[in-house]
Amino acid sequence: MTTITTVKRLSEHVGQTVTLRGWVYNKRSKGKLHFLQVRDGSGIVQCVVFMKNVDEESFEAIGHLGQESSLSVTGEVKADERAPGGFEIGVSSVEIHQVVDGYPITPKEHGVDYLLSQRHLWLRSKRQSAIMRLRSHVMMSLRTFFQDQDFVCMDSPMFTPNACEGTSELFEVPYFERTAYLTQSGQLYAEASAMALGKVYTFGPTFRAEKSKTRRHLTEFWMLEPELAYAELDDVCQLAEDMICYVVRDVLENCQAELADLERDLSKLECILGPFPRLTYEEASKILLEHPDSEFVAGDDFGAPDETILSEMHERPVMITHYPKEVKAFYMKRDPEDESKVLCVDVLGPEGVGEIIGGSQREDDLGILEGRIRDHDLPMSAFEWFLDLRRYGSVPHAGFGLGLERFVGWIAGVEHIRECIPFPRTIVRLEP
Ligand code: 4AD
Ligand code: MG
Repeated sequence: MTTITTVKRLSEHVGQTVTLRGWVYNKRSKGKLHFLQVRDGSGIVQCVVFMKNVDEESFEAIGHLGQESSLSVTGEVKADERAPGGFEIGVSSVEIHQVVDGYPITPKEHGVDYLLSQRHLWLRSKRQSAIMRLRSHVMMSLRTFFQDQDFVCMDSPMFTPNACEGTSELFEVPYFERTAYLTQSGQLYAEASAMALGKVYTFGPTFRAEKSKTRRHLTEFWMLEPELAYAELDDVCQLAEDMICYVVRDVLENCQAELADLERDLSKLECILGPFPRLTYEEASKILLEHPDSEFVAGDDFGAPDETILSEMHERPVMITHYPKEVKAFYMKRDPEDESKVLCVDVLGPEGVGEIIGGSQREDDLGILEGRIRDHDLPMSAFEWFLDLRRYGSVPHAGFGLGLERFVGWIAGVEHIRECIPFPRTIVRLEP
């Protein structure tokens, strides 16, 4: 019996004979030699099969293995600087589990639509696997960041009776004799949780029936939402900045293999240090109004091209605060210094990635919040429980939502966020 290990752990076994269990990623043969690229989910390693080192039958069989054939390979781990990943296996035996011929995805270029329709297989590619491992690490890193500061994870429900971010983008679901909506944001529940537990976060899928077909929009995406009692806008701006810096540092230290597979320009991540530039909406508007390429109209929300312009001006994320209340959600606290504005922040990622975080201080005054619910034509009765939070021990509180796929897309240097979730859902895609 040899030790079973993974590509990721080969460095612990140099000079030993180990078994890897995986799939053929690529194969090249040359006379008495087969070069097998074997992937096992944790990475890819070159396995060198010399005719003289394996039995005749195996050598012959390896010659017939197509891409994605499954096999176990046993051999000696050799450190080799020239090998991708730094290691190579000198094969002494193989056990073939299934011979595959005609795998639908070949190393040649396929169109992205085809690849998306083959997503259940596309995930096996080097690039997609790297993005998924990076996503997994970012999720853990985010949780660690909050747990280490005594935040409590309080998951919000997916089935909700009402809207949080505007009624036009709700998915309706039959719910026994009633209609329920898939949640757009866990925030309203996070506010209740924060009044109970002080510092909380919710982290889960959120749904938006957005008709947008951009590289930044999914209909199902993951959001991490911290919410803090006794906190103001500045506190959450600082928290967002610290969180981003923490996760970027962590990824730079612990995801080097993935970043290398993605050919990520590390200098773009190494410069992510606080403090991040901060602009008010008015200051950002002024820049856009003077910009030759912007079609921005004063008083409007920023569109994706406006965000791109603002984000490309800086190598760090930019925070934009104090938007007009008309373009933002009902729950945001009015700015006491200018009642036409709200105490909110959008964080735009660099390299043109656009908004990755939306957050705010919350309206904590019962009467004003009731007025805002009326202004937005929302059904008061559905919000009675939410108003209770302003009736019983109301305090200043604030929070934000980070879109996980946009965050991962930026860190990974991936253009379209549909590659940043295992099985993307968009306006045109429900399969596989
Ligand atoms: O700015 P949003 O709409 O804010 C909220 O939902 C607040 N309730 C959050 C809070 O304060 N707790 O969404 C937050 C983030 C955006 O900045 C963006 O990163 C992401 O969620 N997001 C999307 N990501 C992918 N596809 C979509 N359709 C998205 N819509 C928002
Ligand atoms: Mg937003």
